[in-house]
Amino acid sequence: MLTRFLLSALCQCSVTENEASRENLKLGKKLNEGKTKQIFELLDEPGNVLVQSKDQITAGNAVRKDQMEGKAAIANKTTSCVFKLLQDAGIKTAFVRQHSETAFVASHCEMIPIEWVCRRIATGSFLKRNPGVKEGYRFSPLKLEMFFKDDANNDPQWSEEQLLAAGFELAGMSIGRCEVDIMSKSTVAIFEILEKAWATQNCTLVDMKIEFGVNVSTKEVVLADVIDNDSWRLWPSGDRSQQKDKQVYRDLKEVTPEAMQMVKRNFEWVSERVKLLLETQTSGRVVVLMGSTSDMAHCERIRKACSSYGIPCHLRVTSAHKGPDETLRIKAEYEGDGVPTIFVAVAGRSNGLGPVMSGNTAYPVINCPPVTSDWGAQDIWSSLRMPSGLGCSTVLSPDAAAQHAAQILGLTDHLIWAKLRASMLNTWVSLKQADKKLQQCSL
Ligand SMILES: Nc1ncnc2c1ncn2[C@@H]1O[C@H](COP(=O)(O)OP(=O)(O)O)[C@@H](O)[C@H]1O
Ligand SMILES: *[C@@H]1O[C@H](CO)[C@@H](O)[C@H](O)[C@H]1NC(C)=O
Ligand SMILES: *[C@@H]1O[C@H](CO)[C@@H](O)[C@H](O)[C@H]1NC(C)=O
Ligand SMILES: *[C@@H]1O[C@H](CO)[C@@H](O)[C@H](O)[C@H]1NC(C)=O
Ligand SMILES: *[C@@H]1O[C@H](CO)[C@@H](O)[C@H](O)[C@H]1NC(C)=O
Ligand SMILES: [Mg+2]
Repeated sequence: MLTRFLLSALCQCSVTENEASRENLKLGKKLNEGKTKQIFELLDEPGNVLVQSKDQITAGNAVRKDQMEGKAAIANKTTSCVFKLLQDAGIKTAFVRQHSETAFVASHCEMIPIEWVCRRIATGSFLKRNPGVKEGYRFSPLKLEMFFKDDANNDPQWSEEQLLAAGFELAGMSIGRCEVDIMSKSTVAIFEILEKAWATQNCTLVDMKIEFGVNVSTKEVVLADVIDNDSWRLWPSGDRSQQKDKQVYRDLKEVTPEAMQMVKRNFEWVSERVKLLLETQTSGRVVVLMGSTSDMAHCERIRKACSSYGIPCHLRVTSAHKGPDETLRIKAEYEGDGVPTIFVAVAGRSNGLGPVMSGNTAYPVINCPPVTSDWGAQDIWSSLRMPSGLGCSTVLSPDAAAQHAAQILGLTDHLIWAKLRASMLNTWVSLKQADKKLQQCSL
């Protein structure tokens, strides 16, 4: 009864959750089964599978196994929220949609049998493998490790060279240099995004383990399996004694009903907060001021790029040369409601707009002058050579002006930051793949 109450109080990540859970899926054959979940083919959705959690908690390689009511549902909730956060940011994952309390639909992957571990703070097995390092040592850059999934040998640690030497062939693709680099770069990006997200809850992401698979339809390396409490260590306020992760379970001297209740309460603490990771912390905006409607197309490009970061963007027409009173009135309008604002000034020829704004507001001002072919190079000087005391920046491409605004707002909004971080990763991956393709063609 208690369980049912708790579960009904859990987060609602998806608006379609209720519909989704009623949906009737035709299961095909069981493709895989591990310690915590089963994978079923979906007869009506080629390329997708159903990932069904089992209702138990494991630690020390299933040495300790206890049924824990409701655990699968909570774990699954955690996975749904975390995968949604990552997917909205632009990270490629296998997650497709929730199906029920304990199951979700995912892209069918052939799994790469490696656990990627990323650490910010030294603790746990790292200390045993690296005697002398004190608990709490902070890794900057992040420490990356990999473990071969091999229960019989207790998941041995591997080097990159061992992974390359293994020459895994999955979904018709060999796991080589390119794929290994994509996985290690992705692991770091994913950690940083989740770390920033947890920081909004005053929670330190200490370390994390994830797995990748090869999407059988597209042959892309994607984040797969799950991310749940088994996957990370979280220390509220950076305090180990308040840890809310599976370590509490591993540390239990004796598995009593009271102790299991405590573990479960900790799990619930996480799953209640995990939904908050999807909420924006601040609501900033961009206001584009244009000297004339002839610059509308340029401004629309800024607005479109802002919307890709989820940033509201207002367009206004005002000329600092011809209507300075109105320019300052519009400025006051946006300063007056307390919403953090970045002004983007779009003015051709002599840009008076940006500098006048910059001299009269403490909010950031970005000049984004539309450049013409005849006088462009000379016109730019009016955006660069400022009187003293003005701090406006100048960015020529409308997309880049929006990106610059996103970087400023991303300092305090983890969802915007996550999109910037994922975009950086995806650009890196595209370059890597383009090079791989080029090398294959020239062979
Ligand atoms: N999207 C997916 N497609 C296919 N297999 C998957 C997917 N996600 C997870 N799996 C696989 O399902 C199996 C069961 O998972 P799990 O119970 O966690 O196994 P393990 O005990 O090996 O960690 C694992 O082999 C896992 O790699
Ligand atoms: C998590 O739970 C929701 C409902 O509570 C369910 O719809 C969804 O499929 C589950 N997701 C995972 C990842 O198992
Ligand atoms: C992977 O496969 C699915 C099929 O489920 C497909 O729809 C999806 O776009 C593919 N790509 C990625 C990056 O997940
Ligand atoms: C985080 O900690 C700070 C300072 O201790 C506190 O003011 C703030 O309310 C906390 N925020 C959350 C989300 O708990
Ligand atoms: C994750 O945390 C929730 C939260 O409290 C917990 O109930 C759940 O069992 C945890 N999941 C796993 C797999 O440990
Ligand atoms: Mg597993």
